[in-house]
Amino acid sequence: MTTVFKELPIITVSSDHNSEDFDCGEPARNVWLCNRALSNQRSDDTRTYVAAEGVEIFGFYALAVSSIVRDALPSSMRRNAPDPVSCVLLAQLGVDLRYQQHGIGRQLVLHAMAQAIRIAELAGCRLFAVSPSGQNLVPYYRRYGFVETQATPPLMTMHLQKVRATLAAVADTKAAHNRSDHR
Ligand SMILES: CC(C)(COP(=O)(O)OP(=O)(O)OC[C@H]1O[C@@H](n2cnc3c(N)ncnc32)[C@H](O)[C@@H]1OP(=O)(O)O)[C@@H](O)C(=O)NCCC(=O)NCCS
Repeated sequence: MTTVFKELPIITVSSDHNSEDFDCGEPARNVWLCNRALSNQRSDDTRTYVAAEGVEIFGFYALAVSSIVRDALPSSMRRNAPDPVSCVLLAQLGVDLRYQQHGIGRQLVLHAMAQAIRIAELAGCRLFAVSPSGQNLVPYYRRYGFVETQATPPLMTMHLQKVRATLAAVADTKAAHNRSDHR
């Protein structure tokens, strides 16, 4: 794993943040952050969270509520599932080019997972999903436990129960790390 940059506060995006200077290397994603994040927030279509210090955005992600056609899921996920199956969608993810490869993407994905659990606890929801932009992101998301589906456009997903287990494992590792630091 690359060296972690630092634990940044992750908060809801606001008009105080400087989204214009953010560049994750994908123009469409940068434009989305600049032009859509706040308006989508007002219309309740997505919620966007930024890893930021003051006005500077290091990275961001957006969540939406969605669903997946049951037949597109791997057979183990189809069992006893309604059609369609509800999901929390990681709709956007980006880290500024200057700060990539330092663990900020991981901090954002783990934060998104924790938010997905909160949503599921309030409203009930079965899956966490992401649409990997291009095949090159598939290995990145596999590392978190996402699996590919047959959905079009491509979608990867994981059970929220598995998300809970992942977050618990991360918390255990962190606690063990803190204990060894205090010895
Ligand atoms: C994908 C992205 C969010 C990752 O953010 P990041 O902060 O660089 O990621 P992290 O530092 O947490 O993780 C880095 C690890 O992921 C791996 N990784 C990064 N991009 C990868 C890719 N496309 N495929 C496979 N692994 C990848 C790195 O090799 C590194 O591995 P290591 O831990 O073994 O060293 C960032 O590269 C980005 O913003 N890309 C452009 C926008 C984009 O593609 N967004 C995703 C849309 S679905």
